[in-house]
Amino acid sequence: MRGKFITLEGIDGAGKSTHHAWLTGFLKSLGKEVVATREPGGTPLGEKLRTLILSEPMHLETEALLMFAARREHLDKLIIPALTEGKWVVSDRFTDATHAYQGGGRGLKHEKIAILEKWVQESFQPDLTLVFDLPTNIACERLARTGNAPDRFERETSEFFDRVRDAYLQRANAEPHRIKIIDAADSIDCIKKKLEEIIITVC
Ligand code: ADP
Ligand code: TYD
Repeated sequence: MRGKFITLEGIDGAGKSTHHAWLTGFLKSLGKEVVATREPGGTPLGEKLRTLILSEPMHLETEALLMFAARREHLDKLIIPALTEGKWVVSDRFTDATHAYQGGGRGLKHEKIAILEKWVQESFQPDLTLVFDLPTNIACERLARTGNAPDRFERETSEFFDRVRDAYLQRANAEPHRIKIIDAADSIDCIKKKLEEIIITVC
């Protein structure tokens, strides 16, 4: 039986990485074989593209094309084979991030992203997407507290992240069956409980 594909989304600092690790462990405790991965990245070539994408200034269409180039590789080398073997794949970001960041944040036309999405994925979509929703100022405070050097995206303005957040919420409203909004301002324990409730519904 095919495994399930779960993606985690939200603005930088919303808590995806924290809950990605926890969710992977939780699914394993339920007896699932789990592959944890991320975008951009997830394959040797994808990780090289990630390094470029997060550091080199580039045209916004180049950025979108590289996201989908890395994604094509990710689907071919990791996501589809794992799902076919019955494994569950949990990815820190996928195509909703391109709609939110390159579309909402940078202003790339939806139609152009949709063409690339169709080309690379055909009708393939995650079984479940968790959007960690958090006001931009709280996410910025959390990121600042980590003390990590900000990458090219994390250096963007709060208006940019407001647009990214709005784009995620619009997508969640348009696809309520697939995309669940998590209130990322809640405590980590509270969020874990909420995630458990949602995951049980797709098991
Ligand atoms: P992301 O992967 O979305 O950028 P992280 O998971 O790295 O975000 O979280 C950013 C910071 O916020 C980390 O220091 C993490 O410990 C902290 N954090 C995550 N979730 C919460 C939460 N619900 N409440 C308080 N702090 C949180
Ligand atoms: P992320 O893994 O969240 O960074 P970190 O390791 O700092 O938690 O994602 C890297 C960045 O890539 C993030 O700022 C969002 C951006 N991104 C896009 O702009 N479009 C995309 O399609 C994807 C997958 C990521």
